[in-house]
Amino acid sequence: MTEPTIADKKPTVMELEAGDYWWCTCGQSQNQPFCDGGHKGTDFTPMKFTIEEKQKVALCLCKHTQNPPFCDGAHSGL
Ligand code: FES
Repeated sequence: MTEPTIADKKPTVMELEAGDYWWCTCGQSQNQPFCDGGHKGTDFTPMKFTIEEKQKVALCLCKHTQNPPFCDGAHSGL
């Protein structure tokens, strides 16, 4: 399997409203951490996730988390 692009070696912390979101898994989106269609032509597809109520989240940008779309600290080992 092809390795994802590391968009950044730290998460992005943001407050999200309740709703559905598409997390970029390939790392090539110009609208991190969300998919912008940049994965076209790769084996990657975006991952849908749902936020039930407004909350602050730390979303993975290194694309190596084992708990997507959330940061699990994996960037510190890259
Ligand atoms: S741009 Fe990365 S998954 Fe769509």
